[in-house]
Amino acid sequence: MSMPVAYERQDDIAVVTVNNPPVNALSQTVRQGLLDALALAMADDKAKAVVVLGAGRTFIAGADIREFGKPPMAPRLSEVVSAYEDAPKPVIAALHGTALGGGLEFALGCHYRVAVTSAKAGLPEVHLGLIPGAGGTVRTPLLTGAAAAIDMVTTGRQVPAHEAQQTGLLDAVYDTYTPLEAGLQFARKAIDENMPVRRARDVQDKLEADRAKIAELRESRAAIEKTARGQTSPLVGLDAVLATLEMPFEEALKNERTLFEDLLKSDQSKALIHAFFSERQVGKVPELETGKPRDIAKIGVIGGGTMGSGISLAMLNAGIPVTMVERDDDALTAGRGRVEETLQGGIKRGKMTEEKMQHILSDLFSGSTDLADLADADLVIEAVFEDMDVKKDIFARLDKICKPGAVLASNTSYLDINEIAAVTSRPEDVIGLHFFSPANIMRLLEIVVADKTSPDVTATGFALAKRTGKIGVRAGVCDGFVGNRILGRYLKVAQMLVEDGASPYDVDAAVVEFGYPMGPFAMSDMAGLDIGWATRKRKATSRDPRERYSADFIDRVCELGRFGQKTGRGIYIYPDGARRGTPDDEVLAIIDKVRKEKGITARGFSHEEIIERYLAAMINEAVKILDEGIALRPLDIDMVQLAGYAFPRWRGGPMKYADMTGLDTVLASLKKFQEDDDYFWKPAELLVKLVETGQSFDSLNKG
Ligand code: 3HC
Ligand code: NAI
Repeated sequence: MSMPVAYERQDDIAVVTVNNPPVNALSQTVRQGLLDALALAMADDKAKAVVVLGAGRTFIAGADIREFGKPPMAPRLSEVVSAYEDAPKPVIAALHGTALGGGLEFALGCHYRVAVTSAKAGLPEVHLGLIPGAGGTVRTPLLTGAAAAIDMVTTGRQVPAHEAQQTGLLDAVYDTYTPLEAGLQFARKAIDENMPVRRARDVQDKLEADRAKIAELRESRAAIEKTARGQTSPLVGLDAVLATLEMPFEEALKNERTLFEDLLKSDQSKALIHAFFSERQVGKVPELETGKPRDIAKIGVIGGGTMGSGISLAMLNAGIPVTMVERDDDALTAGRGRVEETLQGGIKRGKMTEEKMQHILSDLFSGSTDLADLADADLVIEAVFEDMDVKKDIFARLDKICKPGAVLASNTSYLDINEIAAVTSRPEDVIGLHFFSPANIMRLLEIVVADKTSPDVTATGFALAKRTGKIGVRAGVCDGFVGNRILGRYLKVAQMLVEDGASPYDVDAAVVEFGYPMGPFAMSDMAGLDIGWATRKRKATSRDPRERYSADFIDRVCELGRFGQKTGRGIYIYPDGARRGTPDDEVLAIIDKVRKEKGITARGFSHEEIIERYLAAMINEAVKILDEGIALRPLDIDMVQLAGYAFPRWRGGPMKYADMTGLDTVLASLKKFQEDDDYFWKPAELLVKLVETGQSFDSLNKG
């Protein structure tokens, strides 16, 4: 095994290379290696300057997150950073790839920072519920000024090299050099020009200017709080940067350390670290051990409605040619229009160039009203009406038209993929690819593996997710798969809460307070109340008589032609096309009337009680899904909720939340609610078993 940190000398320049694949994280051996290499460089009389760089694809991408929560091992990163800062010979960090977190903090301890053009620098600790813990909140403002530092620390954004140079974070950016050449070039200049060591702690000019406007800087708090939605680390990050303006250097470092260590112990950071690793774990599924992804060079999308156009865009944005097939010319024109409109919107928001749009529309996108034009597609994604007969008809025709080996996918939200696959002569090529709306933006892709789906086809789904920047999550076949099946349960709880006495506005407020961007009723208004209404009517005859029906008040709202945002009225009212709704007394009166008719005496619910029920229902259904093998692991369910249903990431997902609440506490809630409604609240068997054996969901994640 190669050394995690290598030392060599090229003429009179010492070169220190960190080699700890895949991302050169600062594990204990790297920290020690960096100290040892520094000692060698300082003892080496021939070395007049030092260049530090990363081997492989990146500079150092941060502390080793896997060491968090374990007993600290010397040397601490802050000691390493200080040792480099104190060095009497000029030290140059040469950045490429991503210099992140502790990696950037290390570079900030060096006397100069250079980078190749494609490099990015960032302090992403905030995404792990942390703040930089090795001087990032102290040295960044010294070099860039407080405003840029606040931006970096509170958003975790990866700043491109040229921008970082403008803010003062980097001293030089080289367009054509390798990282080593960039480092050596600058070191040569430092030696030839006898440049002094320049320590961030001695750079005081920006600090002086910032002190004069500290009141103004403090005002950014409100905006940060708003976007943080209950997450604390961005605000702590702001405090840490502001403290740098008010404290001596060493004290500011100590202050940062204390804040960092407190955050490291917090539930929020545990949840966010869980989310980080789950996002990387979720793509590891058994089918990928044997399956090989098929080449996808051409895609057919059937349907150009909400989903068909969004899916087309997701593919086109990734550079994959798409043929959209619609029922007739008018529908095709409308589908194409949706694609164009979104691309135009991208241009207005500066996310798309005119040139790229033209390329997409003329070279990648085509339309047709004839399924036969999909004969040479490698993958066809069907996104037509949610109707089994329509879907079966299409798949039977695709079976005759498509070339052997083509992957045939359905974007159905609820329907049985096995039944769809059965109308073809090649069920092994059929899979569910369940995108979320808007499909060009939402990151979740449920990859629904049917009984006969081949591992190659599953692997193709995961490869497509990666290629289009989505998070693919494996799901099995059932009504609603993982996400919508769970959604159905908590929407139902929301309705029951309203019937029993809460107002829909209270339910939404409690859910928003929990960290969601919007509550279930605002969301239903946005999606259109008519969709759920139609589903309820369709399922009315097959409903189990033991099941409580609690949607009467929504049905009544729908009967008035109030379908939500699109009609200006739903559970909320939306005067003059407003996107945020206002509570409506008419709806409250309808609810009151329904309660009276059903003989329900309204009772009050605290926000805490609302959340207790909402989450208990979500978790209980999730456990059943797990037990049935519909979801592979608890972490898969967490990823579905985080990437597709806006569950607050800083709470880690429902399974992580359950672990942190205590599975026994969740079970006790369910048993309490079960006393009133055994059918709905009966605890899942697996949950009872886990509590009896003292296991957690995390233990199931680890297998
Ligand atoms: N520590 C430990 N493992 C890490 C890691 C880290 N900092 N960063 C990435 N990894 C692991 C991943 O888990 C993954 O492991 P796997 O192959 O077993 O699944 C592997 O490295 C490759 O990672 P990605 O799949 O994410 O590779 P990409 O090329 O897509 O992305 C990256 C690379 C942009 C560096 C991305 O991995 C990333 O964002 N990493 C986290 C960066 C970060 O948060 N740094 C700050 C850490 S906290 C800190 O530094 C505290 C300090 O202030 C004291
Ligand atoms: P939509 O009604 O907006 O679009 C459906 C389109 O399919 C229409 O443009 C229609 O003309 C076309 N179509 C119907 N039959 C066709 C045929 N035989 N050949 C070619 N085109 C045909 O519906 P939407 O919302 O896009 O939904 C499509 C599918 O995606 C459904 O199965 C739905 O359950 C699923 N889905 C919907 C989501 C949503 O949020 N709208 C989210 C995820 C999945």
